[in-house]
Amino acid sequence: MCGIVGYIGPKQAAPILLDGLEKLEYRGYDSAGIAVCDGDDVTISKAVGKLANLKAKTDNGNSITGTKGIGHTRWATHGKPTENNAHPHCSERFVLVHNGIIENEEALRRKYLKNAEFYSDTDTEVIAHLLQKFTDDGESTAVAIQHMISEVEGSYALAIIDKNDPDVLYAVKNKSPLLIGSGDGFNMIGSDAMAMIAHTNNFYELNDKEYVVITKDSVDIYTCYGKKIERNTYVAELDVSDTEKGTYPHYMLKEIEEQPTVIRKILKEYSDDDGELTIDPDILKDIRSCDKIYIIACGTSYHAGIVGKQFLEKISGIPTEVCIASEFVYNMPLLSKKPLFIFISQSGETADSRAVLVKVKEMGYKTLTLTNVKGSTLSREADHTLLLYAGPEIAVASTKAYTAQVAVLAILAANIKNSININLNYELSKVSNVIESICDDKDKYSMLAEDYLKDSRNCFYIGRGIDYYVCLEAALKLKEISYIQTEGFAAGELKHGTIALIEQNTPVIAIISQENTNLNTRSNIKEVKSRGAHVMTISTKSLSAQKDQIIINDVHEILTPLVTVVPAQYLAYYAALQKGCDIDKPRNLAKSVTVE
Ligand code: AGP
Repeated sequence: MCGIVGYIGPKQAAPILLDGLEKLEYRGYDSAGIAVCDGDDVTISKAVGKLANLKAKTDNGNSITGTKGIGHTRWATHGKPTENNAHPHCSERFVLVHNGIIENEEALRRKYLKNAEFYSDTDTEVIAHLLQKFTDDGESTAVAIQHMISEVEGSYALAIIDKNDPDVLYAVKNKSPLLIGSGDGFNMIGSDAMAMIAHTNNFYELNDKEYVVITKDSVDIYTCYGKKIERNTYVAELDVSDTEKGTYPHYMLKEIEEQPTVIRKILKEYSDDDGELTIDPDILKDIRSCDKIYIIACGTSYHAGIVGKQFLEKISGIPTEVCIASEFVYNMPLLSKKPLFIFISQSGETADSRAVLVKVKEMGYKTLTLTNVKGSTLSREADHTLLLYAGPEIAVASTKAYTAQVAVLAILAANIKNSININLNYELSKVSNVIESICDDKDKYSMLAEDYLKDSRNCFYIGRGIDYYVCLEAALKLKEISYIQTEGFAAGELKHGTIALIEQNTPVIAIISQENTNLNTRSNIKEVKSRGAHVMTISTKSLSAQKDQIIINDVHEILTPLVTVVPAQYLAYYAALQKGCDIDKPRNLAKSVTVE
Protein backbone atom coordinates (compact mmCIF):
# COMPACT_ATOMS: atom_id res chain seq x y z
CA MET A 1 0.00 0.00 0.00
CA CYS A 2 1.39 3.33 -1.05
CA GLY A 3 0.02 6.80 -1.54
CA ILE A 4 -0.23 8.62 -4.86
CA VAL A 5 -1.09 12.22 -5.66
CA GLY A 6 -1.30 14.39 -8.79
CA TYR A 7 -2.01 18.05 -9.59
CA ILE A 8 -2.63 20.04 -12.74
CA GLY A 9 -3.58 23.71 -12.53
CA PRO A 10 -2.25 27.27 -12.25
CA LYS A 11 -0.21 26.87 -9.06
CA GLN A 12 3.30 25.52 -8.52
CA ALA A 13 2.74 21.77 -8.24
CA ALA A 14 5.64 20.58 -6.07
CA PRO A 15 4.52 22.09 -2.73
CA ILE A 16 0.97 20.85 -3.35
CA LEU A 17 2.23 17.35 -4.11
CA LEU A 18 4.39 17.26 -0.98
CA ASP A 19 1.53 18.43 1.24
CA GLY A 20 -0.68 15.76 -0.31
CA LEU A 21 1.95 13.09 0.27
CA GLU A 22 2.19 14.18 3.90
CA LYS A 23 -1.50 13.35 4.33
CA LEU A 24 -0.84 9.98 2.67
CA GLU A 25 2.32 9.03 4.57
CA TYR A 26 0.24 6.77 6.78
CA ARG A 27 -0.14 4.54 3.72
CA GLY A 28 3.56 3.86 3.48
CA TYR A 29 6.73 5.75 4.25
CA ASP A 30 9.93 3.98 3.28
CA SER A 31 10.65 6.31 0.34
CA ALA A 32 8.99 9.06 -1.68
CA GLY A 33 9.30 10.95 -4.94
CA ILE A 34 7.74 13.58 -7.20
CA ALA A 35 7.84 14.44 -10.90
CA VAL A 36 6.97 18.00 -11.99
CA CYS A 37 6.48 19.29 -15.55
CA ASP A 38 7.57 22.76 -16.60
CA GLY A 39 6.70 22.99 -20.29
CA ASP A 40 8.57 20.10 -21.94
CA ASP A 41 10.92 19.65 -18.97
CA VAL A 42 10.18 17.01 -16.35
CA THR A 43 12.07 17.22 -13.04
CA ILE A 44 12.13 14.09 -10.87
CA SER A 45 13.25 14.06 -7.25
CA LYS A 46 13.29 11.01 -4.95
CA ALA A 47 14.46 10.27 -1.42
CA VAL A 48 14.68 7.18 0.77
CA GLY A 49 13.08 7.24 4.21
CA LYS A 50 10.36 9.53 5.50
CA LEU A 51 8.85 12.28 3.36
CA ALA A 52 10.80 14.85 5.38
CA ASN A 53 13.91 13.77 3.47
CA LEU A 54 12.30 14.57 0.12
CA LYS A 55 11.01 17.87 1.48
CA ALA A 56 14.52 18.78 2.61
CA LYS A 57 15.97 17.75 -0.75
CA THR A 58 13.55 19.98 -2.68
CA ASP A 59 13.37 22.88 -0.23
CA ASN A 60 9.75 21.94 0.47
CA GLY A 61 9.15 21.78 -3.28
CA ASN A 62 10.30 25.35 -3.87
CA SER A 63 13.35 24.26 -5.84
CA ILE A 64 11.23 22.64 -8.55
CA THR A 65 9.07 24.74 -10.89
CA GLY A 66 6.08 23.58 -12.90
CA THR A 67 2.29 23.50 -12.59
CA LYS A 68 1.68 19.83 -13.32
CA GLY A 69 3.03 16.87 -11.39
CA ILE A 70 2.65 13.54 -9.64
CA GLY A 71 3.95 12.17 -6.35
CA HIS A 72 4.29 8.92 -4.41
CA THR A 73 5.01 7.69 -0.89
CA ARG A 74 6.02 4.03 -0.81
CA TRP A 75 5.55 0.89 1.24
CA ALA A 76 7.91 -1.50 -0.53
CA THR A 77 6.47 -4.66 -2.05
CA HIS A 78 8.81 -5.30 -5.01
CA GLY A 79 12.40 -4.22 -4.41
CA LYS A 80 14.05 -2.77 -1.35
CA PRO A 81 13.35 0.82 -0.23
CA THR A 82 16.09 2.51 -2.28
CA GLU A 83 16.12 5.74 -4.26
CA ASN A 84 16.32 3.67 -7.43
CA ASN A 85 13.15 1.77 -6.53
CA ALA A 86 11.30 4.85 -5.28
CA HIS A 87 8.57 6.15 -7.57
CA PRO A 88 8.02 7.86 -10.01
CA HIS A 89 9.15 5.31 -12.59
CA CYS A 90 9.81 6.14 -16.23
CA SER A 91 10.27 5.04 -19.75
CA GLU A 92 11.56 7.46 -22.41
CA ARG A 93 8.12 9.08 -22.79
CA PHE A 94 6.08 8.16 -19.70
CA VAL A 95 6.52 9.00 -16.00
CA LEU A 96 4.18 7.34 -13.50
CA VAL A 97 3.45 6.47 -9.88
CA HIS A 98 1.64 3.32 -8.77
CA ASN A 99 -0.12 1.90 -5.74
CA GLY A 100 -0.74 -1.85 -5.92
CA ILE A 101 0.89 -5.03 -7.20
CA ILE A 102 1.29 -6.23 -10.82
CA GLU A 103 0.85 -9.99 -10.49
CA ASN A 104 1.86 -10.94 -14.05
CA GLU A 105 4.86 -8.64 -14.41
CA GLU A 106 7.22 -11.48 -15.40
CA ALA A 107 4.88 -12.68 -18.18
CA LEU A 108 4.55 -9.11 -19.46
CA ARG A 109 8.34 -8.69 -19.51
CA ARG A 110 8.66 -11.90 -21.51
CA LYS A 111 5.77 -11.13 -23.89
CA TYR A 112 6.40 -7.46 -24.65
CA LEU A 113 9.55 -6.12 -23.04
CA LYS A 114 12.43 -8.41 -24.01
CA ASN A 115 14.35 -5.40 -25.39
CA ALA A 116 13.44 -2.92 -22.67
CA GLU A 117 16.20 -1.75 -20.33
CA PHE A 118 15.10 -1.85 -16.69
CA TYR A 119 16.83 0.17 -13.98
CA SER A 120 14.75 -0.79 -10.91
CA ASP A 121 13.54 -3.94 -9.13
CA THR A 122 9.92 -2.79 -9.17
CA ASP A 123 6.85 -4.18 -10.92
CA THR A 124 5.74 -0.60 -11.56
CA GLU A 125 8.46 0.08 -14.11
CA VAL A 126 6.90 -2.62 -16.31
CA ILE A 127 3.83 -0.41 -16.82
CA ALA A 128 5.92 2.54 -18.00
CA HIS A 129 7.70 0.35 -20.55
CA LEU A 130 4.40 -1.23 -21.67
CA LEU A 131 2.94 2.19 -22.46
CA GLN A 132 6.16 3.07 -24.25
CA LYS A 133 5.99 -0.10 -26.34
CA PHE A 134 2.32 0.30 -27.26
CA THR A 135 2.72 3.96 -28.27
CA ASP A 136 5.95 3.18 -30.17
CA ASP A 137 3.81 0.66 -32.08
CA GLY A 138 1.53 3.54 -33.11
CA GLU A 139 -1.23 3.45 -30.48
CA SER A 140 -2.45 6.72 -28.97
CA THR A 141 -1.86 7.14 -25.24
CA ALA A 142 -5.55 6.48 -24.51
CA VAL A 143 -5.52 3.29 -26.59
CA ALA A 144 -2.21 2.24 -25.02
CA ILE A 145 -3.82 2.63 -21.59
CA GLN A 146 -6.79 0.52 -22.68
CA HIS A 147 -4.32 -2.07 -24.00
CA MET A 148 -2.37 -1.98 -20.74
CA ILE A 149 -5.58 -2.51 -18.73
CA SER A 150 -6.41 -5.56 -20.85
CA GLU A 151 -2.96 -7.10 -20.30
CA VAL A 152 -2.07 -6.28 -16.70
CA GLU A 153 -3.29 -8.55 -13.86
CA GLY A 154 -3.24 -7.24 -10.32
CA SER A 155 -4.05 -4.06 -8.48
CA TYR A 156 -3.11 -0.57 -9.57
CA ALA A 157 -3.91 3.06 -8.97
CA LEU A 158 -1.81 5.04 -11.44
CA ALA A 159 -1.06 8.69 -12.11
CA ILE A 160 0.70 9.11 -15.46
CA ILE A 161 2.58 11.91 -17.23
CA ASP A 162 2.92 11.66 -21.01
CA LYS A 163 5.81 13.93 -22.01
CA ASN A 164 4.17 14.38 -25.44
CA ASP A 165 1.06 15.82 -23.83
CA PRO A 166 2.01 18.73 -21.50
CA ASP A 167 -1.60 19.75 -20.73
CA VAL A 168 -2.86 16.37 -19.58
CA LEU A 169 -2.54 13.95 -16.66
CA TYR A 170 -3.84 10.38 -16.87
CA ALA A 171 -5.14 8.25 -14.00
CA VAL A 172 -6.08 4.55 -14.02
CA LYS A 173 -7.74 2.46 -11.30
CA ASN A 174 -8.07 -1.24 -10.63
CA LYS A 175 -8.59 -2.67 -7.12
CA SER A 176 -6.47 0.06 -5.46
CA PRO A 177 -8.17 3.19 -4.13
CA LEU A 178 -8.13 6.31 -6.32
CA LEU A 179 -10.16 9.53 -6.36
CA ILE A 180 -10.14 12.57 -8.68
CA GLY A 181 -10.37 15.92 -6.90
CA SER A 182 -12.31 18.48 -8.93
CA GLY A 183 -11.43 22.16 -8.52
CA ASP A 184 -12.03 25.51 -10.17
CA GLY A 185 -9.30 25.79 -12.77
CA PHE A 186 -7.39 22.80 -11.39
CA ASN A 187 -7.83 19.07 -10.83
CA MET A 188 -6.10 16.50 -8.62
CA ILE A 189 -5.50 12.77 -8.28
CA GLY A 190 -5.23 11.09 -4.87
CA SER A 191 -5.30 7.74 -3.07
CA ASP A 192 -7.89 9.24 -0.76
CA ALA A 193 -9.72 12.51 -0.14
CA MET A 194 -7.39 13.59 2.66
CA ALA A 195 -4.56 14.17 0.18
CA MET A 196 -6.67 16.79 -1.61
CA ILE A 197 -9.10 18.13 1.05
CA ALA A 198 -7.03 21.29 1.55
CA HIS A 199 -7.89 22.23 -2.04
CA THR A 200 -11.32 20.76 -2.78
CA ASN A 201 -14.23 18.84 -1.23
CA ASN A 202 -15.52 17.63 -4.60
CA PHE A 203 -14.46 14.22 -5.82
CA TYR A 204 -15.13 11.77 -8.61
CA GLU A 205 -15.27 8.10 -7.59
CA LEU A 206 -13.73 5.64 -10.03
CA ASN A 207 -14.60 2.02 -10.66
CA ASP A 208 -12.18 -0.75 -11.49
CA LYS A 209 -10.61 -0.63 -14.97
CA GLU A 210 -11.66 2.93 -15.61
CA TYR A 211 -9.17 5.55 -16.76
CA VAL A 212 -9.34 9.34 -16.65
CA VAL A 213 -7.97 12.07 -18.93
CA ILE A 214 -7.44 15.18 -16.82
CA THR A 215 -6.64 18.77 -17.79
CA LYS A 216 -6.77 21.77 -15.47
CA ASP A 217 -10.34 22.41 -16.64
CA SER A 218 -11.73 18.96 -17.41
CA VAL A 219 -12.07 15.41 -16.06
CA ASP A 220 -13.10 12.81 -18.63
CA ILE A 221 -13.73 9.27 -17.36
CA TYR A 222 -13.64 6.26 -19.69
CA THR A 223 -14.25 2.54 -19.49
CA CYS A 224 -11.41 0.17 -20.42
CA TYR A 225 -13.00 0.03 -23.86
CA GLY A 226 -12.70 3.80 -24.34
CA LYS A 227 -16.41 4.56 -23.77
CA LYS A 228 -16.87 7.95 -22.10
CA ILE A 229 -18.83 7.93 -18.82
CA GLU A 230 -20.84 10.83 -17.42
CA ARG A 231 -20.46 10.93 -13.61
CA ASN A 232 -21.18 13.57 -10.97
CA THR A 233 -18.85 14.51 -8.17
CA TYR A 234 -19.67 13.90 -4.52
CA VAL A 235 -18.88 16.18 -1.60
CA ALA A 236 -16.61 14.65 1.05
CA GLU A 237 -17.76 15.49 4.59
CA LEU A 238 -14.21 16.03 5.74
CA ASP A 239 -12.55 19.01 7.31
CA VAL A 240 -8.88 19.83 7.07
CA SER A 241 -8.70 20.11 10.87
CA ASP A 242 -9.74 16.45 11.07
CA THR A 243 -6.44 15.57 9.50
CA GLU A 244 -4.23 17.67 11.78
CA LYS A 245 -2.65 16.76 15.13
CA GLY A 246 -3.60 20.05 16.78
CA THR A 247 -1.83 20.31 20.14
CA TYR A 248 -1.20 16.57 20.37
CA PRO A 249 2.34 15.19 19.98
CA HIS A 250 1.02 12.21 18.05
CA TYR A 251 -2.12 11.30 16.11
CA MET A 252 -2.43 8.13 18.20
CA LEU A 253 -2.80 10.05 21.46
CA LYS A 254 -5.32 12.40 19.83
CA GLU A 255 -7.32 9.48 18.52
CA ILE A 256 -7.29 7.63 21.86
CA GLU A 257 -8.71 10.73 23.49
CA GLU A 258 -11.27 11.32 20.77
CA GLN A 259 -13.02 8.08 21.70
CA PRO A 260 -15.59 9.58 24.11
CA THR A 261 -16.58 12.06 21.39
CA VAL A 262 -16.72 9.31 18.78
CA ILE A 263 -19.13 7.24 20.90
CA ARG A 264 -21.37 10.29 21.32
CA LYS A 265 -21.20 11.03 17.58
CA ILE A 266 -22.23 7.45 16.83
CA LEU A 267 -25.19 7.77 19.21
CA LYS A 268 -26.22 10.98 17.46
CA GLU A 269 -25.84 9.64 13.94
CA TYR A 270 -27.71 6.39 14.66
CA SER A 271 -30.55 8.03 16.60
CA ASP A 272 -33.86 8.73 14.85
CA ASP A 273 -36.01 11.80 15.52
CA ASP A 274 -37.39 10.11 18.64
CA GLY A 275 -33.88 9.50 20.00
CA GLU A 276 -34.09 5.76 19.33
CA LEU A 277 -30.96 4.01 18.05
CA THR A 278 -31.99 2.64 14.65
CA ILE A 279 -30.53 0.70 11.73
CA ASP A 280 -31.65 0.87 8.08
CA PRO A 281 -34.64 -1.53 7.83
CA ASP A 282 -33.28 -2.98 4.57
CA ILE A 283 -30.18 -4.12 6.47
CA LEU A 284 -32.29 -5.62 9.24
CA LYS A 285 -34.48 -7.39 6.70
CA ASP A 286 -31.49 -9.08 5.05
CA ILE A 287 -29.90 -10.01 8.39
CA ARG A 288 -33.14 -11.40 9.81
CA SER A 289 -33.52 -13.65 6.75
CA CYS A 290 -30.08 -15.21 7.12
CA ASP A 291 -29.33 -18.30 9.22
CA LYS A 292 -25.74 -17.38 10.07
CA ILE A 293 -23.50 -14.34 9.97
CA TYR A 294 -19.88 -14.51 8.85
CA ILE A 295 -17.74 -11.59 9.96
CA ILE A 296 -14.72 -11.00 7.71
CA ALA A 297 -11.87 -8.70 8.77
CA CYS A 298 -8.16 -8.27 9.49
CA GLY A 299 -6.06 -7.08 12.43
CA THR A 300 -7.82 -4.77 14.83
CA SER A 301 -11.04 -4.98 12.82
CA TYR A 302 -10.91 -8.75 13.25
CA HIS A 303 -10.60 -8.24 16.99
CA ALA A 304 -13.65 -5.97 16.93
CA GLY A 305 -15.44 -8.69 14.98
CA ILE A 306 -14.76 -11.26 17.70
CA VAL A 307 -16.42 -8.94 20.22
CA GLY A 308 -19.21 -8.40 17.68
CA LYS A 309 -19.83 -12.15 17.63
CA GLN A 310 -20.65 -11.94 21.34
CA PHE A 311 -23.23 -9.25 20.61
CA LEU A 312 -24.79 -10.99 17.61
CA GLU A 313 -25.11 -14.29 19.45
CA LYS A 314 -25.93 -13.08 22.95
CA ILE A 315 -28.11 -10.07 22.05
CA SER A 316 -29.54 -11.00 18.64
CA GLY A 317 -29.42 -14.81 18.91
CA ILE A 318 -27.83 -15.28 15.44
CA PRO A 319 -25.03 -17.86 15.04
CA THR A 320 -21.92 -15.95 14.03
CA GLU A 321 -18.48 -16.98 12.80
CA VAL A 322 -15.54 -14.58 12.63
CA CYS A 323 -12.94 -15.22 9.90
CA ILE A 324 -9.54 -13.73 9.13
CA ALA A 325 -10.01 -12.41 5.61
CA SER A 326 -6.72 -13.70 4.19
CA GLU A 327 -7.56 -17.19 5.48
CA PHE A 328 -11.16 -17.23 4.28
CA VAL A 329 -10.31 -16.63 0.62
CA TYR A 330 -8.16 -19.79 0.41
CA ASN A 331 -9.80 -21.89 3.10
CA MET A 332 -13.52 -21.14 3.06
CA PRO A 333 -15.43 -22.81 5.91
CA LEU A 334 -18.52 -24.91 5.20
CA LEU A 335 -21.14 -22.19 4.78
CA SER A 336 -24.67 -22.27 6.16
CA LYS A 337 -27.59 -22.38 3.74
CA LYS A 338 -28.43 -18.67 4.00
CA PRO A 339 -25.28 -16.83 5.14
CA LEU A 340 -24.83 -13.08 5.34
CA PHE A 341 -21.38 -11.50 5.35
CA ILE A 342 -20.32 -8.53 7.46
CA PHE A 343 -17.03 -6.84 6.48
CA ILE A 344 -15.37 -4.71 9.12
CA SER A 345 -12.74 -2.34 7.77
CA GLN A 346 -11.68 1.08 9.03
CA SER A 347 -10.19 2.06 5.68
CA GLY A 348 -12.67 0.18 3.51
CA GLU A 349 -9.73 -0.59 1.22
CA THR A 350 -8.07 -3.67 2.77
CA ALA A 351 -7.29 -5.99 -0.13
CA ASP A 352 -7.61 -9.21 1.90
CA SER A 353 -11.14 -8.26 2.97
CA ARG A 354 -12.09 -6.98 -0.46
CA ALA A 355 -11.00 -10.26 -2.06
CA VAL A 356 -13.56 -12.07 0.09
CA LEU A 357 -16.25 -9.52 -0.75
CA VAL A 358 -15.72 -10.10 -4.47
CA LYS A 359 -15.87 -13.88 -3.95
CA VAL A 360 -19.02 -14.03 -1.82
CA LYS A 361 -20.81 -11.52 -4.07
CA GLU A 362 -20.08 -13.80 -7.02
CA MET A 363 -21.70 -16.57 -4.94
CA GLY A 364 -24.82 -14.40 -4.60
CA TYR A 365 -24.69 -13.73 -0.85
CA LYS A 366 -25.77 -10.54 0.90
CA THR A 367 -23.02 -8.26 2.23
CA LEU A 368 -22.75 -5.45 4.78
CA THR A 369 -19.66 -3.30 5.36
CA LEU A 370 -18.84 -1.42 8.57
CA THR A 371 -16.30 1.24 7.62
CA ASN A 372 -14.96 4.63 8.57
CA VAL A 373 -14.61 5.82 4.98
CA LYS A 374 -17.71 6.75 3.00
CA GLY A 375 -17.28 5.85 -0.66
CA SER A 376 -14.49 3.36 0.04
CA THR A 377 -14.22 0.25 -2.10
CA LEU A 378 -15.66 -2.11 0.53
CA SER A 379 -18.51 0.33 1.09
CA ARG A 380 -19.34 0.82 -2.59
CA GLU A 381 -19.18 -2.86 -3.43
CA ALA A 382 -21.24 -4.20 -0.49
CA ASP A 383 -25.04 -4.31 -0.54
CA HIS A 384 -25.18 -2.20 2.61
CA THR A 385 -22.90 0.08 4.64
CA LEU A 386 -22.86 1.17 8.27
CA LEU A 387 -20.48 4.07 8.88
CA LEU A 388 -18.30 4.38 11.99
CA TYR A 389 -18.39 8.22 12.17
CA ALA A 390 -14.99 8.09 13.94
CA GLY A 391 -13.44 10.83 11.80
CA PRO A 392 -10.17 10.23 9.92
CA GLU A 393 -7.93 7.79 11.76
CA ILE A 394 -4.36 8.72 10.81
CA ALA A 395 -2.19 6.75 13.25
CA VAL A 396 -1.34 3.33 11.87
CA ALA A 397 -2.31 1.76 15.20
CA SER A 398 -6.08 1.70 15.20
CA THR A 399 -7.77 2.90 18.40
CA LYS A 400 -10.95 4.97 17.93
CA ALA A 401 -11.96 2.86 14.93
CA TYR A 402 -11.89 -0.26 17.13
CA THR A 403 -14.20 1.23 19.75
CA ALA A 404 -16.40 2.70 17.01
CA GLN A 405 -16.67 -0.71 15.34
CA VAL A 406 -17.63 -2.37 18.65
CA ALA A 407 -20.20 0.33 19.39
CA VAL A 408 -21.83 0.11 15.94
CA LEU A 409 -21.91 -3.69 16.19
CA ALA A 410 -23.72 -3.36 19.53
CA ILE A 411 -26.29 -1.00 17.97
CA LEU A 412 -26.74 -3.40 15.05
CA ALA A 413 -27.20 -6.40 17.35
CA ALA A 414 -29.73 -4.65 19.59
CA ASN A 415 -31.72 -3.56 16.53
CA ILE A 416 -31.84 -7.06 15.10
CA LYS A 417 -33.28 -8.42 18.33
CA ASN A 418 -32.69 -7.00 21.83
CA SER A 419 -33.03 -10.26 23.74
CA ILE A 420 -31.27 -8.86 26.82
CA ASN A 421 -33.28 -5.60 26.83
CA ILE A 422 -30.15 -3.51 27.02
CA ASN A 423 -30.77 0.25 27.01
CA LEU A 424 -27.94 0.98 24.60
CA ASN A 425 -28.44 4.73 24.45
CA TYR A 426 -27.94 4.92 28.20
CA GLU A 427 -25.22 2.27 28.40
CA LEU A 428 -23.13 3.70 25.54
CA SER A 429 -23.45 7.21 26.99
CA LYS A 430 -22.09 5.78 30.21
CA VAL A 431 -19.25 4.13 28.29
CA SER A 432 -18.36 7.52 26.82
CA ASN A 433 -18.12 9.06 30.29
CA VAL A 434 -16.08 6.16 31.65
CA ILE A 435 -13.58 6.44 28.77
CA GLU A 436 -13.29 10.14 29.60
CA SER A 437 -12.39 9.29 33.20
CA ILE A 438 -9.82 6.76 31.97
CA CYS A 439 -8.26 9.47 29.79
CA ASP A 440 -7.91 11.68 32.88
CA ASP A 441 -5.64 9.05 34.40
CA LYS A 442 -3.03 8.93 31.64
CA ASP A 443 -0.06 9.81 33.86
CA LYS A 444 -0.65 6.52 35.63
CA TYR A 445 -0.33 4.59 32.39
CA SER A 446 2.92 6.36 31.62
CA MET A 447 4.35 5.28 34.98
CA LEU A 448 3.08 1.70 34.58
CA ALA A 449 4.56 1.47 31.08
CA GLU A 450 7.91 2.68 32.48
CA ASP A 451 7.75 0.17 35.34
CA TYR A 452 6.44 -2.90 33.51
CA LEU A 453 7.11 -2.58 29.79
CA LYS A 454 9.84 -0.16 28.73
CA ASP A 455 12.73 -2.62 29.24
CA SER A 456 10.81 -5.84 28.61
CA ARG A 457 11.38 -8.03 25.58
CA ASN A 458 8.01 -9.77 25.87
CA CYS A 459 4.62 -9.44 27.52
CA PHE A 460 1.36 -11.34 27.97
CA TYR A 461 -2.19 -10.08 28.19
CA ILE A 462 -4.46 -12.70 29.78
CA GLY A 463 -8.23 -12.87 30.23
CA ARG A 464 -11.24 -15.10 29.82
CA GLY A 465 -14.25 -14.78 27.49
CA ILE A 466 -14.80 -11.23 26.28
CA ASP A 467 -11.75 -10.14 28.31
CA TYR A 468 -9.63 -12.57 26.29
CA TYR A 469 -10.88 -10.97 23.07
CA VAL A 470 -9.73 -7.59 24.36
CA CYS A 471 -6.36 -9.16 25.22
CA LEU A 472 -5.89 -9.95 21.52
CA GLU A 473 -6.38 -6.29 20.61
CA ALA A 474 -4.32 -5.08 23.58
CA ALA A 475 -1.44 -7.31 22.49
CA LEU A 476 -1.58 -6.07 18.89
CA LYS A 477 -1.44 -2.45 20.05
CA LEU A 478 1.63 -3.05 22.20
CA LYS A 479 3.62 -5.09 19.67
CA GLU A 480 2.86 -3.01 16.58
CA ILE A 481 4.16 0.26 17.99
CA SER A 482 6.67 -0.71 20.75
CA TYR A 483 7.95 -3.87 19.00
CA ILE A 484 7.70 -5.78 22.32
CA GLN A 485 6.76 -9.39 21.50
CA THR A 486 3.27 -9.60 23.07
CA GLU A 487 0.64 -12.31 23.15
CA GLY A 488 -3.03 -12.07 24.03
CA PHE A 489 -3.80 -15.36 25.74
CA ALA A 490 -6.81 -17.16 27.15
CA ALA A 491 -5.98 -17.12 30.87
CA GLY A 492 -7.15 -20.69 31.42
CA GLU A 493 -5.07 -21.98 28.52
CA LEU A 494 -1.73 -20.60 29.72
CA LYS A 495 -1.05 -23.61 31.97
CA HIS A 496 -1.32 -25.93 28.97
CA GLY A 497 2.19 -25.10 27.75
CA THR A 498 2.78 -21.40 27.24
CA ILE A 499 3.30 -20.78 30.96
CA ALA A 500 6.77 -22.25 30.30
CA LEU A 501 7.67 -18.80 28.91
CA ILE A 502 6.99 -17.03 32.19
CA GLU A 503 10.26 -16.00 33.80
CA GLN A 504 11.29 -13.66 36.58
CA ASN A 505 9.73 -10.25 35.84
CA THR A 506 7.88 -11.30 32.68
CA PRO A 507 5.09 -8.68 32.45
CA VAL A 508 1.63 -10.29 32.54
CA ILE A 509 -1.37 -7.95 32.29
CA ALA A 510 -4.68 -9.48 33.34
CA ILE A 511 -8.04 -8.07 32.24
CA ILE A 512 -11.01 -8.80 34.52
CA SER A 513 -14.49 -7.44 33.81
CA GLN A 514 -16.77 -10.47 33.96
CA GLU A 515 -18.36 -11.73 37.17
CA ASN A 516 -18.37 -15.38 36.06
CA THR A 517 -14.64 -15.55 35.33
CA ASN A 518 -13.25 -13.13 37.93
CA LEU A 519 -12.06 -15.73 40.43
CA ASN A 520 -10.73 -18.11 37.77
CA THR A 521 -8.59 -15.39 36.22
CA ARG A 522 -7.33 -14.39 39.63
CA SER A 523 -6.22 -18.00 40.13
CA ASN A 524 -4.33 -17.78 36.84
CA ILE A 525 -2.70 -14.57 38.12
CA LYS A 526 -1.45 -16.50 41.15
CA GLU A 527 -0.06 -19.24 38.86
CA VAL A 528 2.06 -16.79 36.86
CA LYS A 529 3.04 -14.75 39.91
CA SER A 530 4.38 -17.90 41.58
CA ARG A 531 6.65 -18.29 38.56
CA GLY A 532 8.06 -14.79 38.79
CA ALA A 533 5.69 -12.81 36.58
CA HIS A 534 5.36 -9.06 37.12
CA VAL A 535 1.55 -8.86 37.14
CA MET A 536 -0.61 -5.83 36.37
CA THR A 537 -4.39 -6.13 36.64
CA ILE A 538 -6.98 -4.07 34.77
CA SER A 539 -10.36 -4.62 36.44
CA THR A 540 -13.81 -3.08 36.63
CA LYS A 541 -14.72 -1.53 39.96
CA SER A 542 -17.29 -4.06 41.18
CA LEU A 543 -14.81 -6.89 40.60
CA SER A 544 -11.65 -5.07 41.64
CA ALA A 545 -9.20 -6.12 44.32
CA GLN A 546 -7.30 -3.57 46.35
CA LYS A 547 -3.95 -4.26 44.67
CA ASP A 548 -5.28 -3.97 41.12
CA GLN A 549 -3.18 -1.34 39.33
CA ILE A 550 -5.95 -0.10 37.00
CA ILE A 551 -9.56 0.04 38.16
CA ILE A 552 -12.23 1.19 35.72
CA ASN A 553 -15.73 2.39 36.58
CA ASP A 554 -18.40 -0.18 35.80
CA VAL A 555 -20.31 -0.31 32.52
CA HIS A 556 -22.76 -2.92 31.24
CA GLU A 557 -20.88 -6.24 31.38
CA ILE A 558 -21.30 -6.97 27.66
CA LEU A 559 -19.85 -3.55 26.73
CA THR A 560 -16.69 -3.76 28.85
CA PRO A 561 -14.39 -4.16 25.78
CA LEU A 562 -15.12 -0.52 24.99
CA VAL A 563 -13.46 0.55 28.27
CA THR A 564 -10.94 -2.16 29.18
CA VAL A 565 -9.16 -1.62 25.83
CA VAL A 566 -8.40 2.04 26.58
CA PRO A 567 -5.73 1.54 29.29
CA ALA A 568 -4.10 -0.99 26.95
CA GLN A 569 -4.02 1.65 24.20
CA TYR A 570 -2.32 4.08 26.58
CA LEU A 571 0.17 1.46 27.80
CA ALA A 572 1.16 0.73 24.20
CA TYR A 573 1.48 4.46 23.46
CA TYR A 574 3.70 5.20 26.46
CA ALA A 575 5.83 2.07 26.08
CA ALA A 576 6.54 3.06 22.47
CA LEU A 577 7.19 6.68 23.47
CA GLN A 578 9.63 5.63 26.20
CA LYS A 579 11.40 3.32 23.77
CA GLY A 580 11.74 6.12 21.22
CA CYS A 581 9.68 4.29 18.59
CA ASP A 582 7.86 6.10 15.78
CA ILE A 583 4.35 6.01 17.23
CA ASP A 584 2.20 7.13 14.29
CA LYS A 585 4.26 5.39 11.60
CA PRO A 586 5.70 2.16 13.06
CA ARG A 587 8.32 0.26 11.09
CA ASN A 588 7.18 -2.19 8.37
CA LEU A 589 3.53 -1.14 8.67
CA ALA A 590 1.05 1.01 6.78
CA LYS A 591 -2.43 2.18 7.66
CA SER A 592 -4.31 0.63 4.83
CA VAL A 593 -3.05 -2.71 3.50
CA THR A 594 -4.23 -2.53 -0.10
CA VAL A 595 -2.19 -5.52 -1.25
CA GLU A 596 -3.00 -9.19 -0.55
C1 AGP B 1 -4.36 -2.17 13.64
O1 AGP B 1 -3.78 -1.29 14.60
C2 AGP B 1 -3.62 -2.17 12.34
N1 AGP B 1 -3.48 -0.89 11.80
C3 AGP B 1 -4.17 -3.20 11.38
O2 AGP B 1 -4.26 -4.44 12.05
C4 AGP B 1 -5.57 -2.89 10.78
O3 AGP B 1 -6.55 -3.00 11.77
C5 AGP B 1 -5.85 -3.92 9.69
O4 AGP B 1 -4.87 -3.77 8.67
C6 AGP B 1 -7.25 -3.80 9.07
O5 AGP B 1 -7.38 -2.54 8.47
P1 AGP B 1 -8.87 -2.08 8.06
O6 AGP B 1 -9.66 -1.98 9.31
O7 AGP B 1 -8.68 -0.75 7.38
O8 AGP B 1 -9.42 -3.12 7.13
